[in-house]
This record gives sequence, C-alpha cells and structure tokens, in this order.
Amino acid sequence: MKKIGLFYSFNSNKTALIGKKIIEAFGDVDIEIINAEEVSEETFSKFDNIIAGVPTWFDGELPNYWDEFVPAMEDLNLKNKKVAIYGLGDQKGYPENFNDGIGLFAKLVEKQGAQVIGFTSIEGYTYENSAAQIGNQFCGLCLDQENQGRLSKKRIQDWVETLKKEFY
Ligand SMILES: Cc1cc2nc3c(=O)[nH]c(=O)nc-3n(C[C@H](O)[C@H](O)[C@H](O)COP(=O)(O)O)c2cc1C
Repeated sequence: MKKIGLFYSFNSNKTALIGKKIIEAFGDVDIEIINAEEVSEETFSKFDNIIAGVPTWFDGELPNYWDEFVPAMEDLNLKNKKVAIYGLGDQKGYPENFNDGIGLFAKLVEKQGAQVIGFTSIEGYTYENSAAQIGNQFCGLCLDQENQGRLSKKRIQDWVETLKKEFY
C-alpha cells in the first residue's frame, strides 16, 4: 500500500486520540501524520492516500482549521487521490447536524476530483439529520465519543480493514 497522509488537528483532544487509534489499527502500514492546523496545498496533495479527521463544530460546520483551508483547496487537483474521512460528533446534543462535517468535507474534495472511500453503515446511530448520510450509508466513519465511545474501537478496526482494501 502507498504511504498514507493522516491529517488531524494536534490541538484537538478527541480527534487526535482517534487518529492515533487509526494508526494502531493499520499496524505496520506507512503513515505520515500532518497537523491539520498547518495544512497547505503542498502537504495535502503530496499523498495519493489521504485520511482526514473532521469533527463537526458550530451546529453543522467544519472546525476553523479546515474551514480556513477551503479557499486553497478550491485550487487543488485531487484527481487520482483517495480520501477517507473520519468525523466526531454528538448525536444526542446535535441530532439535526450529526457529523455534518464529514459530508461537507466529502463534497469539497469530490469537487476537486478526489474519490471518497470508506463508507460505513448508518445502523446503530440515532439522529434526525446528517450531511454525512448518502442513502443508507455515511460517506466516512462517524464516531460519537460523547454517547457511544465504547463502540469506537470496533468501528475503527472495521473501517481500517475496509481502507486496507480500498486504498492504492
Ligand atoms: C459548540 C459545539 C458545537 C458542536 N456542534 C456539533 C454538530 O453540529 N454536530 C455534531 O455532530 N457534533 C457537534 N459537536 C460535538 C463535537 O463534534 C464533539 O464533541 C467532538 O468530539 C469534538 O471533537 P474535538 O474536540 O476533537 O474537536 C459540537 C460541540 C461543541 C462544543
């Protein structure tokens, strides 16, 4: 498998912790970690396999650090790149916008030509609305440390197994 670029905010608590668990689940796969707070066009586009950690903030919005990257992202050519997105959200606190960030981010990278991979089932979650939902799947890995933290380990392991098959 080609080297993976894993992007998450080094200032986040939960998103960074999950990033480390994802690395553990990959075992000896080559992964470079990049601080999403310092993401640039160059660092984002140097990988063919990308994992982005995107928690949802502000009632259905991207966190500041990703939002600030959006104008630069609009100039990127992401053709022939595979992007997998994991998100953190709170289905009880924000049932109308559960993990919207995953869906927003997926749209942004798809617009630049990337293929979003690592879809997961919506079964096992209770919410009203999610921009991450496409049909009966999420377009990424939805985690909820507030309400379903105990389910995360298995969800991560299953997701990583899929990514091992789907990445270049
Ligand atoms: C002010 C605020 C707004 C939030 N908005 C949403 C939201 O719209 N949808 C959602 O699913 N989770 C929302 N959350 C929950 C966070 O996504 C969740 O706590 C996540 O674990 C944060 O990860 P981080 O601390 O690594 O950034 C919000 C949390 C806060 C504090």
